[in-house]
Amino acid sequence: MEPKFSSWISNEKNNKVNEKYGAPAPYFRKLFSAKNVSRATLYITAKGVFKVFLNGKELCEDRLQPEWTDYSKSLNFVRYDITDKIEGQNCIGVVLGNGWYCGTVGLLNVRANYASSPSFSAEIHLEKEDGVEVICTDQSWKTATGKIVYNDLLHGEYHDFNRDLGDFSSVSYEDALFYPSVCSPAYDKSIREHTAEKITLMEQFEGKRIVSSSEFDIYDFGQNFAGIPVIKVRGERGSKIRLRFGEMLDGETLYTANLREAEATDYMVLSGGDDVFEPLFTFHGFRYMEVTVIHGKCEIYGVFARAIYSKLERCGHFECDNPLVNKIYENVLWSQKSNSIGIPTDCPQRDERLGWTGDVQIFCETAMLNANCKGFYENYLYCIREGQRENGAIPVVIPDVHAPWCEPYTGVTGWSDVCILLPYRHYMHYGDASVLRDCFEMGERYLSYCAAEWNDYIMPDRGFGDWLSIDDDTDKSVLATAFTAYSYGVFAEICRILGNGKEEHYRRISRKIKQKYIEKFVDEDGKILSDTQTVYLTAYAFGILGGEILPHLIRTLERKNYRLSTGFIGVRYLLPVLAELGRADLAYELLCSTEYPSWGYTVKNGATTIWERWNSYSHTEGFGDIGMNSFNHYSLGSCVEWLYKFVLGINYSADEPAYKKVELKPYFCYDGKIKNAKGKLQTQHGEIGVEWSAEGDNVLYVADIPQGVCAIFTFNNAAVESYRVEGQRHIYKLKRN
Ligand code: BGC
Repeated sequence: MEPKFSSWISNEKNNKVNEKYGAPAPYFRKLFSAKNVSRATLYITAKGVFKVFLNGKELCEDRLQPEWTDYSKSLNFVRYDITDKIEGQNCIGVVLGNGWYCGTVGLLNVRANYASSPSFSAEIHLEKEDGVEVICTDQSWKTATGKIVYNDLLHGEYHDFNRDLGDFSSVSYEDALFYPSVCSPAYDKSIREHTAEKITLMEQFEGKRIVSSSEFDIYDFGQNFAGIPVIKVRGERGSKIRLRFGEMLDGETLYTANLREAEATDYMVLSGGDDVFEPLFTFHGFRYMEVTVIHGKCEIYGVFARAIYSKLERCGHFECDNPLVNKIYENVLWSQKSNSIGIPTDCPQRDERLGWTGDVQIFCETAMLNANCKGFYENYLYCIREGQRENGAIPVVIPDVHAPWCEPYTGVTGWSDVCILLPYRHYMHYGDASVLRDCFEMGERYLSYCAAEWNDYIMPDRGFGDWLSIDDDTDKSVLATAFTAYSYGVFAEICRILGNGKEEHYRRISRKIKQKYIEKFVDEDGKILSDTQTVYLTAYAFGILGGEILPHLIRTLERKNYRLSTGFIGVRYLLPVLAELGRADLAYELLCSTEYPSWGYTVKNGATTIWERWNSYSHTEGFGDIGMNSFNHYSLGSCVEWLYKFVLGINYSADEPAYKKVELKPYFCYDGKIKNAKGKLQTQHGEIGVEWSAEGDNVLYVADIPQGVCAIFTFNNAAVESYRVEGQRHIYKLKRN
């Protein structure tokens, strides 16, 4: 029996909301008996976010459920099997937060976009021999407000422990402070089950006090991440403590300029006894926490933090003998975690935290190599389909926030192509053709939109171009036209896989766009308009031009002193194209460089995550442009894809996706920057393991291939000296060629 969610409740007192931070969080409790129940299921949804308790305990470590969707279109619900948790007499407790529905959403900088205070609907289905008893939310659920004075995802949370309701979800609780809840309007659009991994409390960190002044203390958690503080404190009743969060320090003070309008500040007022502060409905992007006792006296005896993110299972591992590369890899993992909060976001700290589609499109291969993102991206693809406009355009941020600033950018290449590139790559990793089918119409409509935009196959000069490139602007029309040719080609592939007879149609158009690109943008010497690293990289990677771009690419690198100048978009192709064109040596050099701009430069300057800019901070120059300076932005981390695919050499095959067939195509490093590397990838067909070591010109390459998986080995910068198989293990002795 499916839930109907026809009755909704709220706490009427929440009409008195604070303009900026919302109202106190409402608590709800309901007693119910459950005798002779073979199965008990809780279905729950909210206009806002919820936390569930049962019989005095947190039901689970999920946070911010039912997560984020475009509320003008749909809402999620969550199903919990509570069979093992119920007894004869039970009490369910629910606390509501503002979340994205009622709270502040990035780049809108207003709260209450959909409602001023939260409400919810729940059904407990008790399956008994004679049928299903359904307990719905109604006025018999009692409500009250408690210690959460306000909560906002961006601004923070305020707890007054003197208003703590205690064990409000236990059966024996004295609920004199509670009163009947009020009926609230039902949600009238679609409510669908949220089946992907939930946002959950994850790693714990302990804070180390590194600054202690007369005004405040600063604690360091050693890692930049998205999460919440957990503070254990005892003090005089009424003492007030303020917590502020930052990713960096500016000398002995917290650096918060880059948070823009996000206040990222929590408060607590002490009860006089032992208090534990652990916010439920906010999160911050931080490494450092500043603690100020605003008034009163207290002793803080535990300073911890928990990361929160969608609980995606790790599937890929990489390690090598170069600590810098290992650190870059670790930093990318942390930026992925911090930006997988229900949807893939750009950053977790400032007043943004939006599902920027360009970032997703660039990073999704890396993401799927690091972790199993099957459900996570299926959910996101659903959101993209929902966000598609009448004319086929895809907004640059999904869920669509319906902001006027988005409009001029709706339907821009490099960002909106996510609607074709993500389903295709998802299929390559997971082999589920239903995803391609579900996204097919969206792709067709998007490509028709592109066709309506171009002028004789040349796309307009619009969008963000090679976002954040370094003094090396790529012409937007060149880049957009290249992307459109590419997306048409990938879509032709999708048609081939689906066998729908449309492949040739899209391939023909893709060829036509490429031909027009060449006519319009490439001169007789093979120079492409704007002459940046990115134009050559994309022209090659998208099959517009071949190896003849190499001298130009090298020239553009030379001009920059052999340093990269690519932005978000171009950087993904830099190392792969160099390797494929015989310059793996240069690719390794760029990867291992610590000169500005490079991944290593950020590590040298203290990065524990991937930064939005190569110079977000440096010991010598200080902080980058505060207007846009995130220290936890995964886009430039697309180099991790190269570690799996080019260093280890593990590639899926379009012939038999999901690694039923694996193409091993490593490129070795001979100058000692990486002398050995190892890693593995857990796939549906088993675990693929690779390990190699290079000494002088000799390489030993060992690959463990699961039974039933077909492996094709291609060595590009090495020749086979000997080969043997031991069980699942393929052992190659190779020599540099
Ligand atoms: C976001 C990026 C995004 C870009 C597009 C920024 O504000 O943080 O990640 O892709 O805007 O212009």
